[in-house]
Amino acid sequence: MIKVKGISKRFNSNVVLDGVDLTIESGETHVILGRSGTGKSVLLKIICGLMRPDAGQIEIDGRHIDFEKRVSVRRVRAMVQMLFQGGALFDSMTVEQNVAFHRIEHGKARPEDASKIAREYLEMVGLEDAGPLMPAELSGGMKKRAALARALAARPRIMLYDEPTTGLDPLTSQRINQLIRETQRRFGVTSVVVTHDLRSAQEVGDRCSFLEDGRILETTTPQNLRMAEQPLLRAFAEEAFPKF
Ligand SMILES: Nc1ncnc2c1ncn2[C@@H]1O[C@H](COP(=O)(O)OP(=O)(O)O)[C@@H](O)[C@H]1O
Ligand SMILES: [Mg+2]
Repeated sequence: MIKVKGISKRFNSNVVLDGVDLTIESGETHVILGRSGTGKSVLLKIICGLMRPDAGQIEIDGRHIDFEKRVSVRRVRAMVQMLFQGGALFDSMTVEQNVAFHRIEHGKARPEDASKIAREYLEMVGLEDAGPLMPAELSGGMKKRAALARALAARPRIMLYDEPTTGLDPLTSQRINQLIRETQRRFGVTSVVVTHDLRSAQEVGDRCSFLEDGRILETTTPQNLRMAEQPLLRAFAEEAFPKF
């Protein structure tokens, strides 16, 4: 379980998060909806220990992240993987080296096993032949899938997805949504998915929360979005599923 308690974050005078409270149950896929620039990416970076909040606490399975202590942050990094918006593959490494990177870097696998490990995870995302390619040779959707393979190869207990379907065509988006669901089922991971894509929210989400004005204003299910209390959240839902 992830507990986000009173998290605040500002950049100079720009108050981005202003007391975010949110509980993510173990094994669920929790979608975070919100307009551009409301701090969704910032929140994900704080949850995975990449960014330090000004106030508040993050608790993962009952343990606080102590942002002052490297060992505490490192423990979080070992548990949590994030699928970044652009994929964020290492450009100078092959896809295979990218996928095996975490395991080898952390001494959990030998470099000579890289190819075998990479293949296993690349197969999962339907990219079994892409191992020898360089990231620049991949399409946007393939990059996303390769980045997902790399994240999964680290065997995280928690997966954070930052707009996983943004910029992808509908078929590729659907494939990514399926992979998010498969990852949840197969590995039992707890997931947080930031998205603008209501269809994606419906396909992957068990619950969803609405971030606005620096806080989570409402938590509901993707099925009940149209009945949300927040008018802006209802507007989101209407736009994605116009009434006929
Ligand atoms: N490292 C940073 N330095 C300064 N401002 C930042 C930084 N990261 C994010 N911001 C600001 O925080 C706000 C929220 O950004 P972000 O979390 O990326 O929004 P979202 O993902 O919801 O679109 C924006 O105004 C952005 O300019
Ligand atoms: Mg963002």
